[in-house]
Amino acid sequence: MSKNNDSVLVCENIGMQFGGLAAVRNFDISIPNRALYGLIGPNGAGKTTVFNIISGVLSPTAGRVKLFGEDITGLTPDEIAKRGVARTFQNIRLFRDLTVLDNVLVGHHLRRKATLGEALLALPRYRKEESGMMHTSRELLEAVGLKDVAHYRASALPYGQQRRLEIARALATKPKVLLLDEPAAGMNPAETEQLMQLILDIRDRFNLSILLIEHEMKVVMNICEHITVLDHGEIIAEGTPSEIQSNERVIKAYLGGGTIARH
Ligand SMILES: Nc1ncnc2c1ncn2[C@@H]1O[C@H](COP(=O)(O)OP(=O)(O)O)[C@@H](O)[C@H]1O
Ligand SMILES: [Mg+2]
Repeated sequence: MSKNNDSVLVCENIGMQFGGLAAVRNFDISIPNRALYGLIGPNGAGKTTVFNIISGVLSPTAGRVKLFGEDITGLTPDEIAKRGVARTFQNIRLFRDLTVLDNVLVGHHLRRKATLGEALLALPRYRKEESGMMHTSRELLEAVGLKDVAHYRASALPYGQQRRLEIARALATKPKVLLLDEPAAGMNPAETEQLMQLILDIRDRFNLSILLIEHEMKVVMNICEHITVLDHGEIIAEGTPSEIQSNERVIKAYLGGGTIARH
């Protein structure tokens, strides 16, 4: 048990400057093994920028990102994904004309050392193979509650299910760290309830650390153990959900935007 609290992912003094705009400044975070960690803040606070930096979409203008103690700053998204970081996107990115199952199969391309284009070309072969990949993909679809719609086109799924499919595809890369960018966006209350349970289940079943950006306070406050709050690119608070809910700076940052409430 002694290793359980070791940090899996660390950001040290991250800065991201877009021309004259400091989108992120002095950002530090340390995600323990098997953590469910929240990253919140008003619109434009810099949350997605942090995900883009961790996942290699952006190279930070200051600071380092470390995964299991190894410096991954500036590596390409593919290299970072291969090292065990997967993400979903605030704006859903699925192959809309592919089936649900094929979307997950494509997610496996990383483990096959193929490029995304090669993975798409190889899909007919993937489908025929009674390999572990097909089996795992079906298991992942079952885990996210999409087994019965495996052969639907992704675009035919309602919004909430598309978000769950993105999670399944991310899991197909066998991540150690999963970054979820507003997974509850566009979900109705029942879907949001299911999502909360799903996130908890995923953490336990796949033994990973989850960093969650979420506007829906009910989700963050109920399932995250620890939360960092960003405002205008800077960390204004961190702590447990109850500490965050009673933090003066956080309440002020959210005034006019939304309330920090558990329900
Ligand atoms: N690639 C980019 N180029 C220029 N400005 C950007 C870019 N990405 C984000 N920004 C700006 O950085 C700020 C933070 O954006 P973002 O990280 O998307 O915030 P959040 O996810 O917290 O809503 C915003 O002002 C946004 O317009
Ligand atoms: Mg965002």
